[in-house]
Formats: sequence, C-alpha cells, structure tokens
Amino acid sequence: MKRALPFTAVLALAFGLAACGSPSSSTPSDLPPAAEEGRQLSKNNGCAGCHGSNFGGGVGPTWQGLSGSSVSLANGEKVLADRAYLIESIKNPNAKRVAGFSSAMPAVSLTDDEISKIVDFIETLK
Ligand code: HEC
Repeated sequence: MKRALPFTAVLALAFGLAACGSPSSSTPSDLPPAAEEGRQLSKNNGCAGCHGSNFGGGVGPTWQGLSGSSVSLANGEKVLADRAYLIESIKNPNAKRVAGFSSAMPAVSLTDDEISKIVDFIETLK
C-alpha cells in the first residue's frame, strides 16, 4: 500500500502530459478542435505550399488577417472576406480572382465539412 500513492501520482502525470500533446503535431495548439483539424487539412492538402508554412503568404495571398478584410479582386471589385467568400474561394478558386496574383489556384477536392473546418482555421488567423 505504501507504493500505491506515488504510482497513482506518476500515472496521473503521464496521462496529463499525454492529453496535452496532439498525436500528429509536435507543436501544441490551443485552437478549437474544428480549427485545428482545418489547420491539419491545410497542411495535408498542399494549401501551405502556396499560402506559406505559417499561412503568411507565398505564391498565394496570406491568410493572416484575411477573414473580415476587404479583398481587391482582379476585376476591380472589392469584396468582404466573409465566410461565404472564403468557402467560394476554396470550392471554386476561379470564381473571384484576387488582384495581383499571376498564378491561379488549383481546384481541390475537399468535402464541404473539410472546407468548413479550413475556414474555421482561417478565421482564427486574425
Ligand atoms: C498552386 C498554389 C496554390 C495552392 C496549392 C492553393 N492556393 Fe489558394 N490561392 C492561390 C493563389 C495564387 C490565390 C490568389 C489568386 C486567386 O484568387 O485565384 C489563392 C487564393 C486563395 C484564397 C482567397 C484569398 C484571398 O486573399 O482572398 C483562399 C481562401 C485560398 N486560396 C485557400 C486555399 C486552400 C484552402 C487551399 C488548399 C486546399 C489552397 N488555397 C491551395 C494559390 C494556391
């Protein structure tokens, strides 16, 4: 019985630590679950290759501060980057081309649920 208490304490500590780390990533994330899934989806579907490893932009525009901003389109219009715009931009990249980008974004086959999670993630990048 004397060893029972420390053992339980060690066990509790081990479980506590395991719960903190996400299995697929070494960087701890305090994102809500859906947004965290969106972040993983963005890494796994090549989005980061063009939008930057930290989504700060590259071949494609930055996602930092994108949500809620005013985007200038290639046709001269300005649109509010609300949820509907972000979803459309992912589903149908050529529907509204962002001004100033010579390369086009490829269409990707993602489910509506996956797109919704990616948008949840983009919305956290204020
Ligand atoms: C080959 C490079 C490339 C890849 C891969 C790519 N994008 Fe893009 N993306 C672009 C470019 C270039 C633009 C801007 C031109 C345009 O609107 O098509 C853009 C625009 C966007 C926009 C609108 C941004 C704004 O400023 O209004 C969103 C949202 C977006 N991409 C999301 C995604 C997501 C999600 C993925 C992965 C599933 C992805 N992109 C993969 C190149 C890429």
